[in-house]
Amino acid sequence: MNQSRDHWSSNAGLVLAATGSAIGLGNLWKFPFITWENQGGAFVLVYLICIAAVGLPIMLAELLIGRRSQKSAVGALTEAMRGTRFGGLVGGWGVVAGFILLSYYTVIAGWSLYYFWQTIGWAFTGFPPGLSAGDLFNEQVGNAGLQLMLSLGFSLGTIAVVYFGVSRGIERIARIFLPILFGILVLMLISALGMSGSGEALGFIFRPNFGELPREGILEALGHSFFTLSLGMGAMVTYGSYISRKQSIVKAGGAIVALDTIIALLATVIMFSVIFSVAGMREEVGGSTVGMLFISLPELFFTEVPFGNILGPLFYVLVALAALTSTISLLEVVSAYVIDEHGISRQKATVGAGAAIFVFTIFAALSFTGTPFLSTMEIFADKAGWFSTADHFVSNWMLPTGGFAITIAAGWMMTRRATREELLDGNEPRWFNYGVWRFFIRWLAPVAVASIIIAVILGTDFS
Ligand code: TRP
Repeated sequence: MNQSRDHWSSNAGLVLAATGSAIGLGNLWKFPFITWENQGGAFVLVYLICIAAVGLPIMLAELLIGRRSQKSAVGALTEAMRGTRFGGLVGGWGVVAGFILLSYYTVIAGWSLYYFWQTIGWAFTGFPPGLSAGDLFNEQVGNAGLQLMLSLGFSLGTIAVVYFGVSRGIERIARIFLPILFGILVLMLISALGMSGSGEALGFIFRPNFGELPREGILEALGHSFFTLSLGMGAMVTYGSYISRKQSIVKAGGAIVALDTIIALLATVIMFSVIFSVAGMREEVGGSTVGMLFISLPELFFTEVPFGNILGPLFYVLVALAALTSTISLLEVVSAYVIDEHGISRQKATVGAGAAIFVFTIFAALSFTGTPFLSTMEIFADKAGWFSTADHFVSNWMLPTGGFAITIAAGWMMTRRATREELLDGNEPRWFNYGVWRFFIRWLAPVAVASIIIAVILGTDFS
């Protein structure tokens, strides 16, 4: 074990940093719109079951693989898979997934900066009458110079945090930003619950009606439970490698999963309360669910939401902070690999990896600007442009296969003694039962994840 390895300064530090990784665009942007598309209640219930039955066991598996080896993704999985070549491949697959995911995630993260800027302006002038929010959105994604600036800004912010390392960079930022993020959400919740549509929103989200759940909804819930918890690509393995022996993996993993789930539900309650309060909004959102966050909501803040002048800009700060704590963990996966496996200093590794990834961010940023090839290439059917191609590949192929390999590593290849020692580390909470975990990670989780992979092979699209 490397004595000089940086560690989280406390359990709270790890929980906040990993929760920051988990909470991101998946919670604020994707979960609300897939909940909408899948008719609410029953989908939400299935999602909660997937989080508890598949997400939590894999979360614990990733953290324990990381802590056991005290190495980042490649080294840790090599050890977990008993030194076989295959372990290195699985870890490397995760590093590549992190690389690609970060390249396009940064672009959407950049949009939050744009909307922050716009909403600050509207806070003073009011929403410009006659402005079409849809046109505004299309204009900004189509503006190549603007897109490059926004994503460059976001990349630089990400690199700056990772540059300072685990306790002085990532943990410090998470300690400051996550409380702010919770605070903003609570303010928004209070405002949204006061709106006329809140009762209907709560019913839509929490009253299950299984007749309305589309069949693919079950798999979509499962796939999303993976994405939202940052699983399947070694991010939690990497964060786990900075956990000291004094901390409880089960407590930390349980808290991360619970917080991520609560935030996703809160975001959905807030957004739907606003949308259901406005006549005709349902139909409009139904026309472009993906546009909920950047097309429907900005205008509503200034026309409908109580204290929207203040909450509007704050909301996009929230999106930006949530995205940043996710992008730093993505960059950390790649940087930590370079640092551990190639013996390069953190500073050099971070700047180098960040710059290399940014080259692909450029491709993603230009995916909507009509740039020849980058906007039009089609490797997968109906996925035009680099952005959609990358998203399709990562969400459908890389995360599920990576997740499957992790269940095999923790459930079948590591010894019972090793996983037991990590989970029953003397600090574990009372409710935890090792045997139940072991059954889930050996049987239920691999079968569930395999069913996603089979569905993808048969043509389902999760991106
Ligand atoms: N969980 C993040 C979100 O919900 C996205 C994500 C997926 C991620 N895999 C990751 C973030 C790995 C960091 C690391 O937005």
